[in-house]
Amino acid sequence: MKKTAIIATLILSMAVVFIGCKDKRSPGSVYMPDMAYSRAYESYAARDSSVFTTDPNDAGHKIFFNNLPPAGTLKRGELFPFNVPNDSNGLLNLSSLVKNPLDPLTGKDLEEAGRLFNINCAVCHGAKAEANGPLAAKVGGVKNIILASPGYSDGRIFFVMEYGQLNMGSYASQLSREQRWRIVQYIRTLEPKNAPAATTPAVAKTDSATVVKK
Ligand code: HEC
Repeated sequence: MKKTAIIATLILSMAVVFIGCKDKRSPGSVYMPDMAYSRAYESYAARDSSVFTTDPNDAGHKIFFNNLPPAGTLKRGELFPFNVPNDSNGLLNLSSLVKNPLDPLTGKDLEEAGRLFNINCAVCHGAKAEANGPLAAKVGGVKNIILASPGYSDGRIFFVMEYGQLNMGSYASQLSREQRWRIVQYIRTLEPKNAPAATTPAVAKTDSATVVKK
């Protein structure tokens, strides 16, 4: 009697296992639906405005969702944000303190940087960055990047790509940070070998480390 019970239990549990594995894509009988079906929000789905809001002030009584990643978060593998403010101090002083975070590019990577430069920058700046691209005359005011004096630091070139300047638009949405730092390295290869190194201006002495003597 005991034997029959054991065999019956075995057969029953085998049946459960096999029925559960009938179709790999189907969850089978669902015991906890929230685990089987994701309740995550679909980014591009139409939103019911009586339930969702994009206004942070409304966040208490509705579900706040504005399609943006939370502030301060980084995409996996993405470089750290460029935190230099878009003002003249940022351009003239702070940007030059930011070093290129990439190792020196070689071979294929450098070629790719050149490709990006030719697609995005050469229309105005020219293939040699001498301000003679096909659009330069139409746009007006395009600068010769490599013969600038004093030479542009890496951070300053990045700054201009991040925010744009006068007739030049921002490239922050077209090129990832890594691509922009790569372009900076490519521009370096266009410079004449004997060009003076880019100067790093002294930082304004108004930071928190300054000790005020009384
Ligand atoms: C639509 C034409 C146009 C394109 C495309 C363009 N630029 Fe410019 N760029 C300009 C103009 C105009 C200026 C001069 C802005 C000024 O006088 O401040 C400039 C200035 C610059 C400067 C000098 C900034 C300074 O502080 O004086 C750098 C560096 C630069 N561009 C890099 C780039 C790079 C890198 C790209 C490609 C990602 C690019 N530009 C694409 C038009 C362009």
